[in-house]
Amino acid sequence: MSSDLPDPLCQAALEARSQAHAPYSQFMVGAALQTASGHISPGCNLENRSYGLTNCAERVALGNAVAAGHRDFQAIAIASSGGVLPCGACRQVLLEFCPQLTIFLIDVDKQVNDVGYVQTVELADLLPGGPTP
Ligand code: THU
Repeated sequence: MSSDLPDPLCQAALEARSQAHAPYSQFMVGAALQTASGHISPGCNLENRSYGLTNCAERVALGNAVAAGHRDFQAIAIASSGGVLPCGACRQVLLEFCPQLTIFLIDVDKQVNDVGYVQTVELADLLPGGPTP
């Protein structure tokens, strides 16, 4: 893995993915949010037999972090097959706390480095004109 990738953050997202509860879609997602001071909060998707009650990994990570007293987020790593971008709901919920968030997308299917292929995007570019706090 190249040294400019946030290794502990990506590893945390991969570990969180292994905890995903996704019996309905079989699509496992892990996320890990990092604060400016370096604290990492994990999250995984939580599905439900009533499909609409599903929570994405990103929002689980955010709730986990905020409930533990963390706010000053700098980056999130998201691990999935294909390295998917956060959904619209997650983009808006993340924007509430982190207008300047760097997103590392891990495609677990592409092993070009230790954690899989990683692509970087900015949250602000994914929700231009979105509501800011
Ligand atoms: N999912 C996430 O957890 N994060 C995303 O960014 C995309 C989708 C979950 C929700 C659901 O459990 C499964 O992936 C299929 O959509």
